[in-house]
Amino acid sequence: MQEKTALLFRTDFEKDIFNGLTDYPKHLPSKYFYDSNGDKLFQEIMAMPEYYLTGSEFNILTNFKEQIADLCYKENKPFNLIELGAGDGKKTKILLEHLSNSNIPFKYHPIDISQNALDQLELSLKMEMPKVSVQKVQGTYFEGLKKIDTISNKKIILFLGSNIGNMEHKNAIDFLSSIRQYMNADDLLLVGFDLKKNPQTILDAYNDPTGVTAAFNKNILTRINNTLHGNFNLDTFKHWETYDPQTGTAKSYLVSTIEQVVTIEELELEITFKAWETIHTEISQKYDKHTIHWIADNAELSVETEFGDDKNYYKNYIFKKK
Ligand code: AVI
Repeated sequence: MQEKTALLFRTDFEKDIFNGLTDYPKHLPSKYFYDSNGDKLFQEIMAMPEYYLTGSEFNILTNFKEQIADLCYKENKPFNLIELGAGDGKKTKILLEHLSNSNIPFKYHPIDISQNALDQLELSLKMEMPKVSVQKVQGTYFEGLKKIDTISNKKIILFLGSNIGNMEHKNAIDFLSSIRQYMNADDLLLVGFDLKKNPQTILDAYNDPTGVTAAFNKNILTRINNTLHGNFNLDTFKHWETYDPQTGTAKSYLVSTIEQVVTIEELELEITFKAWETIHTEISQKYDKHTIHWIADNAELSVETEFGDDKNYYKNYIFKKK
């Protein structure tokens, strides 16, 4: 194994890839799935029948948009609707449309790392809901929140899609605590949580027969090949999903089907794989009520209310500052 000090890494990507692949067992952060190819694959995943999460949250927002709007709009006071990781805003549009049609005064602040995603979202909103006032914010979630923090109106912060599930519990608590620092007493935080359910339903959502999820998982290897001159042969890695119904943790792996050596030129690194050795790439946590309350409690948030879908697969929780 080669030594490389942190000082020699040009980017966090280089450092994270090096550290993950020289560790034992090997691991890579799932945030690196999302380049333009990964974004496209994730859009495909969200449209798959097996990936029930999108439909469930769509169902909740459709069924409870009036109740959610009532919680946002109090005493005729305009508010700011802030979305962390807005993407194409498909689900949020249900809420935006309802607010707009009800002539409720609000400003929509989508925060996203991708300027391209923000530009497209703004354009589509201009065509579909010209009355909605959009102020896009490019950057990380916390850069975005910092920028918006200067605005005095009530804030409603959306964190949809069970994105929280890609964090281990401790990170989820730290993340929510950090968001809390940008909240005032009246502000609300709406978070989507995927629930524990039939383990087969969960495995199927992350193991589709058409192989889109496998391609999404392997995209991290493609990205290493393209940006760091790696020579991963994708055909020698198998996408593998596990789900532990006790902890509620779904885990994605890439398993090397052969013994092999992979080279990453930019990192001056040779990585050896034994046959059937794993790279752990993602967790997708599934929750029960007790765990959600425990996380909220630790982040010093209180549960204001919750909305579930017709199948009992998914919940949107609304939190306040304790
Ligand atoms: C973005 N995130 C909530 C997705 C999930 O369900 O964990 C990412 C994903 N991974 C595989 N399929 C979808």
